[in-house]
Formats: sequence, structure tokens, C-alpha cells
Amino acid sequence: MKNSWVGGSLSTDYIHHATTLRGALRQALVARALDTHLPPGPLRVLDVGGGTGIQALRLAARGRAVTVLDPDPAMLEHAAARWKRERATAAGTLDLIEGRGEDAQELVGDNWDAVLCHGVLMYLQDAGALVASLGRCARKGGGLVSILAKNADALAMRPALEGSPQEALDVINRRSELGKLGVESRAHRRTDIERCLREQGLETVQWYGVRVFTDHLGDTPPGEDFSAWLDLEWVAGSRSPYRDVARLFHLVSRHA
Ligand SMILES: C[S@@+](CC[C@H](N)C(=O)[O-])C[C@H]1O[C@@H](n2cnc3c(N)ncnc32)[C@H](O)[C@@H]1O
Repeated sequence: MKNSWVGGSLSTDYIHHATTLRGALRQALVARALDTHLPPGPLRVLDVGGGTGIQALRLAARGRAVTVLDPDPAMLEHAAARWKRERATAAGTLDLIEGRGEDAQELVGDNWDAVLCHGVLMYLQDAGALVASLGRCARKGGGLVSILAKNADALAMRPALEGSPQEALDVINRRSELGKLGVESRAHRRTDIERCLREQGLETVQWYGVRVFTDHLGDTPPGEDFSAWLDLEWVAGSRSPYRDVARLFHLVSRHA
């Protein structure tokens, strides 16, 4: 078992994950929420832990000026290769910078219109330091911070629905587990993350549950019914009580 992302790149496994129904739904749901909350125009967007650039390239294609900051050179190489193929038709720009999100202000400055951090907190020992850094980087007076993290209140859902009641009982009161990528990953309470953000002057705009009904489907590939699953997950993920038991939460907050 690996106990952190960096120091043994998981890029190949992650790229495979993104092609499964679970991975594709996660990206599509996050994209839908971003499109809902990001205002139009050539915004400056910082994607902390942006990895292979799935959201970053999509936003750059639509005219945003995007910077990905990520410590894993293998993930950045994938992003660079895709960007090489796609940049001729993109309306925006993409910069790829190697480094940790905790050092973002020194590496890429602040005053960003939107700061994204999706699927990163779960690989860190100290999520608070990264959340504080995201808050510092977002523009005071309206800058958005978008965080996707593992939901500590619903860890037992996956093993239980997979048919493993003992495993579900084991994780029900825990904050960490061995994720599908084989690395120890941590879950967080949304309310704890909201508290950290509030200390930086950010208030929640909206939050979503990501993967309410589909998290236990393993490596099932997306099928012809993908858009029906997407619509269902979007509607359920937008309201309680469904969103409360989703695998991940997607928190969108804004600087006062
Ligand atoms: C599961 S991938 C998520 C990639 C992308 N955000 C997405 O949602 O597709 C996790 C990413 O977090 C990055 N990461 C790990 N530790 C980090 C840190 N301290 N600061 C910024 N990124 C980090 C990894 O290099 C990896 O690219």
C-alpha cells in the first residue's frame, strides 16, 4: 500500500479510472457544476492538483486562461501531450507548473478568479494547509474556490453496496481507507472544510454530492445510458438527503 500520491506516480491507474462510468460521471458532474457557477468571460483559473488536466483543458478550450499546478511530473506530461493536440482549436490558454498546492501563492501568485482543487485533499496528511492556500490564492471580492473531496460521513456506502457488510462496519467510523487506486486516502467532513474556508473569508455558494447511486459499480465502463445516469446523479446530488450519502462532495465557495 502506498501512503501518498507523490513518490510513486499513480498516473496510469488514474487515467484508466477516468474511463470508467464512475470516473466519467465524476468529471461530468464537476464540469456541470463549474459551468453553473463560473461567470462567462476570459477568467483566470488555477487548477491545484489538476493532474492530467481533464477540467483544465475543457476550460481552456472554452476561452479561460488556466494554470495547472501539480507536483507529479507524470500527470503533467499527460496534460501537456493532450494540450499539444488540442491547443490549435482552444479559445483560451493553458500553463502547466510543477509544484505543491501548499506553495501556490509563492509559485503562481494570487488574485485568481477561480481556484479548483478536485480529488487532492484525500492524498494529504494536512488538508487544512492546502485549503488555506486555496483561500489565499482566490481573488478577494468574488473569487471562487471549488473543492472535490471524499465524504467522511458516507464511507460505509460503497463496501455495503458491494456486498461486504464487515468491511462497511470496519470503515463506518473511520476517516481513511484503501481507495481503488491502492493508495491510502482520507475522507473529510464538508462542514470541517467549510470552517477552514470561512477562516479565509469564503462562504459556501452551493454543494453537491458526487456519485450517489453509481459508486459501487467498480470498473463498469460508461454505456449508452450514460446521459441518463448523469442526469439522475446531477438531480440527486443537488438535494438532501441523497447528496449526503454520495461518495464525494463538491463544495463551491466564494470570497466575500
Ligand atoms: C486523483 S488526481 C486528481 C486530478 C484532477 N484534479 C482531477 O480531478 O482529475 C490527484 C492529483 O493531486 C496531485 N497532488 C498530490 N499532492 C498534491 C499537493 N500537495 N498539491 C497539489 N497537488 C497534489 C497529484 O499529483 C494528482 O495529480
